[in-house]
Amino acid sequence: MEQSKEKPILIQQPEGLTLVSGDLSLRGDFSSMKSRLKPGNLNGEMLVRAARIKAPLNGSIPVAIDATAGLGEDSFLLAASGFKVYLFEKNETIAALLKDALERALKDQDIAEIASRMIFVEGDSIAGMKSLPEHPDVVYLDPMFPERRKSGLIKKKFQLLQLLERPCDDEDGLINAAVAVSPAKIVIKRPAKAPVLGGIKPSYTISGNSIRYDCIVR
Ligand SMILES: C[S@@+](CC[C@H](N)C(=O)[O-])C[C@H]1O[C@@H](n2cnc3c(N)ncnc32)[C@H](O)[C@@H]1O
Repeated sequence: MEQSKEKPILIQQPEGLTLVSGDLSLRGDFSSMKSRLKPGNLNGEMLVRAARIKAPLNGSIPVAIDATAGLGEDSFLLAASGFKVYLFEKNETIAALLKDALERALKDQDIAEIASRMIFVEGDSIAGMKSLPEHPDVVYLDPMFPERRKSGLIKKKFQLLQLLERPCDDEDGLINAAVAVSPAKIVIKRPAKAPVLGGIKPSYTISGNSIRYDCIVR
């Protein structure tokens, strides 16, 4: 895969904060996800099916932690399906893009209500998960898997993310931190053929062509 050799830099553009390197650019963008919100589409999303719970543990709004938020697309789907989501992101550049995308989403009346349920938390979720003010119903983990970096099919905009992200170096730390906050369910996104995270056998799996969601019900 050809990758831009220029060091990526953040630039404030009229459309929003943008990461630029050569002719590649990337910004967080929830407005472009509106077509995925139609009820038929949203309920068919594998992640939404995987994260479904019978009833929230406390109160009426289910709470999820996205411990590896990235640009927040998965969190957005969880929030659209009704969850209040705490989004952890530890990479400063990705965190800046995510924060900017959330601010713009709050100004878009079609998705502002969804964005209002997305609470950004900068920093490492392994340390931060246990300090949240609410007990989570679901913890969602999507750590970067080494194989993803080798794919020649990565969309152009994600080539830039590949320059910033490193494969997750503490998978056991993530799963152990998730188990420690005792959610009703832990959902883990994995490449279809990857080993299970932390050696923990899932209760069940929802499988697609290239990825799968391992669900640990407690
Ligand atoms: C594969 S990406 C997640 C993509 C995301 N699911 C989405 O929908 O855009 C993984 C992200 O998790 C972040 N990350 C990995 N370990 C983390 C940790 N312990 N705490 C916070 N962020 C973490 C990485 O910086 C990276 O941005």
